[in-house]
Amino acid sequence: MYETIQQTLSWLEANTKLRPSVGIILGSGLGNLADHIASPQRIPYKDIPNFPVSTVEGHSGNLVLGMLGGKAVMAMQGRFHYYEGYSMKELSFPLRVMKAFGIKTLFLSNAAGGLNPGFKVGDIMMITDHLNLFPEHPLRGKNDSRLGSRFPDMGQPYSKTLIDRATAIATKLNIPLKQGVYAGWQGPSYETPAEYRMLHLLGADASGMSTVPEVIVARHAGMEVFGLSIITNSALSASTEQVSHEDVQEAALKAQPLMTSLITELIKTL
Ligand code: HPA
Repeated sequence: MYETIQQTLSWLEANTKLRPSVGIILGSGLGNLADHIASPQRIPYKDIPNFPVSTVEGHSGNLVLGMLGGKAVMAMQGRFHYYEGYSMKELSFPLRVMKAFGIKTLFLSNAAGGLNPGFKVGDIMMITDHLNLFPEHPLRGKNDSRLGSRFPDMGQPYSKTLIDRATAIATKLNIPLKQGVYAGWQGPSYETPAEYRMLHLLGADASGMSTVPEVIVARHAGMEVFGLSIITNSALSASTEQVSHEDVQEAALKAQPLMTSLITELIKTL
């Protein structure tokens, strides 16, 4: 994998002058945070050697490089999900490339179901920790010590410093911000009411189908991570109201302006 990463890195270095230190993964319905990136250079995933290509409706596949909050950023507009059939190595490959390219801090967002009864649709939740409930670990297999250690620490998967700064920014900007634990599991079916109850009993406040593998790989690579979940549906109404991908995307779009401000302000503090 090391050689494959280097190959993609060389291609990127030859195809952009930017040398970003901030990486962003834009989740479900939140892809247009990329519209706020100044002087954007858009590179379709299909043009990038060794990059996987996105398959889900509503998830476009572009790398967007440019300026946000005064910093050079590299944003992934469209991410890769385990349920699409990618292996853990494939879906987390872009994180390896980010690290090799010089990314120090990773921001990511996702759409999630709200398990905490205090959450309502449209809430933004800062991810303070996660539960890895995927059937396969992204670091399974022979470890390449050039990429990270065999047994990486996960004591602070989401940067406490960034969480504290985001809390202060949210207060200043009057952005209501929840916080909690994100349970990541594979999907693609949404949870049954009993599964939602189980995840809440296990200690999760929100659940979704992404993020956890990427965060594990980002931490393995030594990047700082900050994550936001948009609560797009509630476990409380799971047995009476159907969840659809369209409703999830609509709820995610509504939360976008606040999320964009928060992330932009947070990037300014780096
Ligand atoms: N469960 C899993 N993933 C999701 C959900 C959910 O309720 N909502 C948005 N993504």
